[in-house]
Amino acid sequence: MELYETGNANIWSSSYVREQLLKAHLNPDSDAASRKPNTIRATVDWVLENQSGTGSIIDLGCGPGLYAQEFAARGWSAVGVDINESAINHAIESGKSKGLTVQYLHQSYLDKMDVGDFDVATCIYCDFGALTSEQQKTFLLNVHQLLTPSGVLVFDVFGTGISQTKTAGRSWERAGANGFWSKSPCYVLSECQHFKKEQVWGQKYIVISDSGESSTYVLWDHYFTVEKLESLLLEAGFSVIETKSDLVQESDFTSGDVLFVRAIKI
Ligand SMILES: C[S@@+](CC[C@H](N)C(=O)[O-])C[C@H]1O[C@@H](n2cnc3c(N)ncnc32)[C@H](O)[C@@H]1O
Repeated sequence: MELYETGNANIWSSSYVREQLLKAHLNPDSDAASRKPNTIRATVDWVLENQSGTGSIIDLGCGPGLYAQEFAARGWSAVGVDINESAINHAIESGKSKGLTVQYLHQSYLDKMDVGDFDVATCIYCDFGALTSEQQKTFLLNVHQLLTPSGVLVFDVFGTGISQTKTAGRSWERAGANGFWSKSPCYVLSECQHFKKEQVWGQKYIVISDSGESSTYVLWDHYFTVEKLESLLLEAGFSVIETKSDLVQESDFTSGDVLFVRAIKI
Protein backbone atom coordinates (compact mmCIF):
# COMPACT_ATOMS: atom_id res chain seq x y z
CA MET A 1 0.00 0.00 0.00
CA GLU A 2 1.32 3.46 -0.94
CA LEU A 3 0.92 6.49 1.28
CA TYR A 4 -2.27 8.33 0.29
CA GLU A 5 -3.05 5.98 -2.58
CA THR A 6 -6.67 6.27 -3.60
CA GLY A 7 -9.18 3.56 -4.41
CA ASN A 8 -11.86 3.63 -7.10
CA ALA A 9 -14.68 3.83 -4.53
CA ASN A 10 -15.58 5.86 -1.43
CA ILE A 11 -17.43 4.38 1.55
CA TRP A 12 -19.46 7.58 2.06
CA SER A 13 -20.76 7.81 -1.51
CA SER A 14 -20.95 4.21 -2.77
CA SER A 15 -24.71 3.60 -3.12
CA TYR A 16 -24.75 0.30 -1.18
CA VAL A 17 -22.10 1.00 1.50
CA ARG A 18 -23.48 4.45 2.36
CA GLU A 19 -26.81 2.82 3.29
CA GLN A 20 -24.98 0.42 5.65
CA LEU A 21 -23.22 3.41 7.17
CA LEU A 22 -26.54 5.18 7.68
CA LYS A 23 -27.79 2.16 9.63
CA ALA A 24 -24.62 2.28 11.75
CA HIS A 25 -25.03 6.05 12.38
CA LEU A 26 -28.57 5.46 13.64
CA ASN A 27 -27.78 2.53 15.95
CA PRO A 28 -27.84 4.04 19.46
CA ASP A 29 -26.08 1.00 20.94
CA SER A 30 -22.95 1.28 18.85
CA ASP A 31 -20.12 3.79 18.40
CA ALA A 32 -19.74 2.87 14.71
CA ALA A 33 -20.11 5.84 12.29
CA SER A 34 -21.64 8.04 15.05
CA ARG A 35 -21.01 7.89 18.78
CA LYS A 36 -23.71 6.83 21.21
CA PRO A 37 -26.39 9.39 22.26
CA ASN A 38 -24.86 10.16 25.70
CA THR A 39 -21.51 11.01 24.15
CA ILE A 40 -23.20 13.13 21.48
CA ARG A 41 -25.08 15.12 24.14
CA ALA A 42 -21.92 15.59 26.24
CA THR A 43 -20.08 16.76 23.11
CA VAL A 44 -22.80 19.27 22.20
CA ASP A 45 -22.73 20.57 25.80
CA TRP A 46 -18.98 21.11 25.53
CA VAL A 47 -19.13 22.66 22.04
CA LEU A 48 -21.68 25.24 23.21
CA GLU A 49 -20.10 25.82 26.62
CA ASN A 50 -18.86 29.42 27.03
CA GLN A 51 -20.94 30.65 24.09
CA SER A 52 -22.90 33.68 25.20
CA GLY A 53 -26.37 33.15 23.72
CA THR A 54 -27.03 31.44 20.42
CA GLY A 55 -25.72 32.10 16.91
CA SER A 56 -24.95 30.29 13.68
CA ILE A 57 -23.23 26.93 13.50
CA ILE A 58 -22.13 24.68 10.64
CA ASP A 59 -21.49 20.95 11.15
CA LEU A 60 -19.06 19.62 8.56
CA GLY A 61 -19.45 15.90 7.89
CA CYS A 62 -22.81 16.02 9.69
CA GLY A 63 -23.92 12.49 8.73
CA PRO A 64 -27.64 12.04 9.53
CA GLY A 65 -27.71 15.33 11.46
CA LEU A 66 -27.46 13.98 15.01
CA TYR A 67 -25.40 16.98 16.16
CA ALA A 68 -26.97 19.58 13.83
CA GLN A 69 -30.44 18.71 15.18
CA GLU A 70 -29.21 19.00 18.76
CA PHE A 71 -27.73 22.44 17.96
CA ALA A 72 -31.02 23.53 16.35
CA ALA A 73 -33.01 22.19 19.33
CA ARG A 74 -30.89 24.44 21.54
CA GLY A 75 -31.80 27.51 19.49
CA TRP A 76 -28.83 27.70 17.12
CA SER A 77 -29.23 28.43 13.43
CA ALA A 78 -27.69 25.22 12.08
CA VAL A 79 -26.36 24.02 8.73
CA GLY A 80 -25.09 20.49 8.04
CA VAL A 81 -22.79 19.46 5.18
CA ASP A 82 -22.11 15.90 4.07
CA ILE A 83 -21.24 13.84 0.99
CA ASN A 84 -23.34 10.84 2.05
CA GLU A 85 -26.61 11.36 0.16
CA SER A 86 -28.42 8.69 2.20
CA ALA A 87 -27.41 10.38 5.45
CA ILE A 88 -28.40 13.86 4.19
CA ASN A 89 -31.81 12.60 2.98
CA HIS A 90 -32.40 10.99 6.36
CA ALA A 91 -31.32 14.20 8.14
CA ILE A 92 -33.79 16.29 6.11
CA GLU A 93 -36.71 13.94 6.76
CA SER A 94 -36.00 13.40 10.45
CA GLY A 95 -35.50 17.15 11.04
CA LYS A 96 -38.89 17.82 9.43
CA SER A 97 -40.61 15.18 11.55
CA LYS A 98 -39.18 16.74 14.73
CA GLY A 99 -40.10 20.27 13.62
CA LEU A 100 -36.44 21.35 13.66
CA THR A 101 -35.11 23.82 11.11
CA VAL A 102 -31.70 22.81 9.82
CA GLN A 103 -30.32 23.57 6.36
CA TYR A 104 -28.47 20.66 4.76
CA LEU A 105 -25.98 20.73 1.90
CA HIS A 106 -25.10 17.58 0.02
CA GLN A 107 -21.53 18.41 -1.00
CA SER A 108 -17.90 18.00 0.02
CA TYR A 109 -16.52 20.35 2.63
CA LEU A 110 -13.33 20.31 0.55
CA ASP A 111 -15.21 22.32 -2.11
CA LYS A 112 -16.30 25.92 -1.75
CA MET A 113 -19.41 26.19 0.43
CA ASP A 114 -21.66 29.09 -0.46
CA VAL A 115 -23.65 29.40 2.76
CA GLY A 116 -22.62 32.58 4.57
CA ASP A 117 -20.76 33.17 7.81
CA PHE A 118 -20.83 31.12 11.00
CA ASP A 119 -19.92 31.75 14.62
CA VAL A 120 -18.99 28.11 15.15
CA ALA A 121 -17.91 25.26 12.84
CA THR A 122 -17.72 21.65 14.00
CA CYS A 123 -16.31 18.47 12.47
CA ILE A 124 -16.86 15.50 14.74
CA TYR A 125 -15.69 11.91 14.91
CA CYS A 126 -12.09 12.22 13.76
CA ASP A 127 -12.99 13.09 10.19
CA PHE A 128 -10.16 15.63 10.00
CA GLY A 129 -7.58 12.87 10.45
CA ALA A 130 -9.21 10.82 7.69
CA LEU A 131 -8.09 13.50 5.21
CA THR A 132 -4.69 13.49 3.52
CA SER A 133 -2.35 16.21 4.76
CA GLU A 134 -3.09 18.35 1.65
CA GLN A 135 -6.84 17.89 2.18
CA GLN A 136 -6.45 18.92 5.84
CA LYS A 137 -4.98 22.23 4.64
CA THR A 138 -7.84 22.72 2.16
CA PHE A 139 -10.36 21.91 4.89
CA LEU A 140 -8.86 24.47 7.29
CA LEU A 141 -8.75 27.12 4.55
CA ASN A 142 -12.42 26.51 3.75
CA VAL A 143 -13.41 26.63 7.42
CA HIS A 144 -11.42 29.84 7.92
CA GLN A 145 -13.42 31.46 5.11
CA LEU A 146 -16.72 30.26 6.59
CA LEU A 147 -16.17 31.71 10.05
CA THR A 148 -16.96 35.20 11.30
CA PRO A 149 -14.02 37.15 12.82
CA SER A 150 -13.11 35.34 16.05
CA GLY A 151 -15.31 32.41 14.97
CA VAL A 152 -14.57 29.08 16.60
CA LEU A 153 -13.70 25.69 15.09
CA VAL A 154 -14.28 22.57 17.19
CA PHE A 155 -13.12 19.15 16.04
CA ASP A 156 -11.65 15.92 17.34
CA VAL A 157 -8.72 13.73 16.36
CA PHE A 158 -7.21 10.44 17.45
CA GLY A 159 -4.24 10.52 19.80
CA THR A 160 -1.29 8.16 19.62
CA GLY A 161 -3.33 5.48 21.47
CA ILE A 162 -5.00 4.56 18.16
CA SER A 163 -1.89 2.49 17.38
CA GLN A 164 -2.79 0.08 20.19
CA THR A 165 -6.05 -0.77 18.40
CA LYS A 166 -4.49 -1.57 15.00
CA THR A 167 -2.32 -4.36 13.68
CA ALA A 168 -0.45 -4.10 10.42
CA GLY A 169 -1.01 -7.00 8.02
CA ARG A 170 -3.12 -8.53 5.29
CA SER A 171 -6.13 -10.83 5.40
CA TRP A 172 -9.10 -11.95 3.35
CA GLU A 173 -12.60 -13.23 3.95
CA ARG A 174 -15.55 -14.59 2.05
CA ALA A 175 -18.51 -12.36 2.96
CA GLY A 176 -22.09 -13.57 2.70
CA ALA A 177 -25.03 -11.77 1.04
CA ASN A 178 -26.23 -8.45 2.52
CA GLY A 179 -22.97 -7.82 4.33
CA PHE A 180 -21.36 -4.45 4.94
CA TRP A 181 -19.56 -4.26 1.60
CA SER A 182 -21.97 -5.81 -0.85
CA LYS A 183 -25.52 -7.06 -1.32
CA SER A 184 -24.15 -10.19 -3.01
CA PRO A 185 -21.60 -12.63 -1.61
CA CYS A 186 -18.06 -11.39 -2.27
CA TYR A 187 -14.41 -11.72 -1.33
CA VAL A 188 -12.89 -8.93 0.76
CA LEU A 189 -9.11 -8.52 0.79
CA SER A 190 -7.83 -6.14 3.42
CA GLU A 191 -4.51 -4.56 4.24
CA CYS A 192 -3.57 -2.40 7.21
CA GLN A 193 -0.34 -0.41 7.28
CA HIS A 194 1.31 2.05 9.64
CA PHE A 195 3.17 5.01 8.10
CA LYS A 196 5.09 6.03 11.21
CA LYS A 197 6.81 9.11 9.83
CA GLU A 198 3.53 10.61 8.65
CA GLN A 199 1.70 9.38 11.78
CA VAL A 200 -1.10 7.75 9.85
CA TRP A 201 -2.64 4.28 9.57
CA GLY A 202 -3.91 3.18 6.17
CA GLN A 203 -6.60 0.58 5.65
CA LYS A 204 -7.34 -0.79 2.21
CA TYR A 205 -10.26 -3.03 1.27
CA ILE A 206 -10.63 -4.68 -2.13
CA VAL A 207 -14.14 -6.03 -2.58
CA ILE A 208 -14.41 -8.60 -5.39
CA SER A 209 -17.76 -9.80 -6.63
CA ASP A 210 -18.29 -13.31 -8.03
CA SER A 211 -18.50 -11.79 -11.51
CA GLY A 212 -14.97 -10.44 -11.01
CA GLU A 213 -15.78 -6.74 -10.58
CA SER A 214 -13.77 -5.06 -7.87
CA SER A 215 -14.09 -1.91 -5.77
CA THR A 216 -11.16 -0.58 -3.77
CA TYR A 217 -11.71 1.55 -0.67
CA VAL A 218 -8.78 3.23 1.09
CA LEU A 219 -9.19 4.86 4.50
CA TRP A 220 -6.72 6.96 6.50
CA ASP A 221 -6.49 7.56 10.23
CA HIS A 222 -3.97 10.20 11.27
CA TYR A 223 -3.12 10.64 14.91
CA PHE A 224 -1.95 13.83 16.53
CA THR A 225 -0.29 15.39 19.55
CA VAL A 226 -1.46 18.76 20.91
CA GLU A 227 1.79 20.37 19.72
CA LYS A 228 1.35 19.08 16.17
CA LEU A 229 -2.25 20.33 16.03
CA GLU A 230 -1.28 23.72 17.40
CA SER A 231 1.30 24.27 14.67
CA LEU A 232 -1.01 22.97 11.91
CA LEU A 233 -3.80 25.26 13.07
CA LEU A 234 -1.53 28.27 13.48
CA GLU A 235 -0.33 27.86 9.89
CA ALA A 236 -3.99 27.96 8.81
CA GLY A 237 -4.83 31.08 10.85
CA PHE A 238 -6.27 29.49 14.00
CA SER A 239 -5.16 29.59 17.60
CA VAL A 240 -5.96 26.65 19.90
CA ILE A 241 -7.81 27.92 22.97
CA GLU A 242 -8.73 24.62 24.61
CA THR A 243 -8.19 20.89 24.30
CA LYS A 244 -10.12 18.13 26.03
CA SER A 245 -9.23 14.46 26.14
CA ASP A 246 -11.97 12.98 28.35
CA LEU A 247 -15.14 13.61 26.34
CA VAL A 248 -15.03 10.13 24.84
CA GLN A 249 -14.70 7.75 27.76
CA GLU A 250 -14.52 4.60 25.65
CA SER A 251 -15.54 3.32 22.24
CA ASP A 252 -16.89 -0.07 21.24
CA PHE A 253 -15.84 0.56 17.64
CA THR A 254 -12.49 2.33 17.52
CA SER A 255 -9.85 3.91 19.72
CA GLY A 256 -11.14 5.90 22.72
CA ASP A 257 -7.96 7.99 22.67
CA VAL A 258 -9.59 11.11 21.29
CA LEU A 259 -8.55 14.73 21.64
CA PHE A 260 -11.08 17.51 21.15
CA VAL A 261 -9.79 20.91 20.08
CA ARG A 262 -11.36 24.34 20.28
CA ALA A 263 -9.58 26.87 18.06
CA ILE A 264 -10.34 30.50 17.33
CA LYS A 265 -9.93 32.23 13.96
CA ILE A 266 -7.11 34.82 14.16
C1 LIG B 1 -17.35 9.26 11.02
S1 LIG B 1 -18.68 10.03 10.23
C2 LIG B 1 -19.21 11.19 11.43
C3 LIG B 1 -20.55 11.79 11.16
C4 LIG B 1 -21.03 12.79 12.21
N1 LIG B 1 -20.08 13.85 12.40
C5 LIG B 1 -21.30 12.08 13.51
O1 LIG B 1 -20.39 12.02 14.35
O2 LIG B 1 -22.44 11.61 13.68
C6 LIG B 1 -17.88 11.07 9.03
C7 LIG B 1 -18.83 11.83 8.15
O3 LIG B 1 -18.09 12.69 7.31
C8 LIG B 1 -18.65 12.65 6.01
N2 LIG B 1 -17.62 13.06 5.04
C9 LIG B 1 -16.48 12.39 4.73
N3 LIG B 1 -15.79 13.11 3.83
C10 LIG B 1 -16.51 14.23 3.57
C11 LIG B 1 -16.32 15.34 2.71
N4 LIG B 1 -15.23 15.46 1.93
N5 LIG B 1 -17.25 16.32 2.70
C12 LIG B 1 -18.38 16.22 3.46
N6 LIG B 1 -18.61 15.19 4.30
C13 LIG B 1 -17.69 14.20 4.35
C14 LIG B 1 -19.14 11.24 5.85
O4 LIG B 1 -20.10 11.11 4.84
C15 LIG B 1 -19.67 10.95 7.24
O5 LIG B 1 -21.02 11.28 7.35
